Amino acid sequence: MTRRVAILISGSGSNMAALIDSMTGDHPARPVLVLSSDPAAKGLQRAVGRGVPAEAVDRRAYRDRASFEVAVDAALRREGAEIICLAGFMRILSADFVSRWTGRILNIHPSLLPLYRGLDTHARALAGGDAEAGCTVHEVTAALDDGPILGQARVPVLPGDTANALAARVLEAEHRLYPAVLRRFAAGDRTPVRLP
Ligand code: GAR
Repeated sequence: MTRRVAILISGSGSNMAALIDSMTGDHPARPVLVLSSDPAAKGLQRAVGRGVPAEAVDRRAYRDRASFEVAVDAALRREGAEIICLAGFMRILSADFVSRWTGRILNIHPSLLPLYRGLDTHARALAGGDAEAGCTVHEVTAALDDGPILGQARVPVLPGDTANALAARVLEAEHRLYPAVLRRFAAGDRTPVRLP
């Protein structure tokens, strides 16, 4: 029995594409839905191009977070989602929503958590003079960018790096890390993945 995966995005969806492309053959999961909080997200077309049902639940069309989350939850349950992968989903989910999906939501964050929760992670790593940077996949809990770590990938910070250059290097690592973690997680193994 393969596990049914929904991927939540807000933007370009490159992590989403990497996840979808990984779920073939003997992979223990399959993508059943891509859901975007922004109807203009480029990732929606990338999902459709890969044959995965994709839809927007436009956050701006809802009067508050609670009603937005009711719509997201309904779409997830309609498709029978069992695992939710946040992939560049730039909305903070409430504790109430998270509690309804406990242990079933993963997120990728562009830093080596617990360093640099929140935004502007690459600029902060450069400002801190860090020798390395990276990304983390973790289980989502009610606290922002917290929760048990399921995998990390490290990249070097190079002389003359800008935040954009570092972000691009980290993003490549994200595309390797997230599929590796999802494969393991969907098979019921929560042992953290370490890359490279
Ligand atoms: C990725 O770098 C992801 O780690 C980050 O947004 C980018 C989305 O890129 N997520 C966050 O910052 C979450 N707080 P993508 O849409 O091309 O996958």
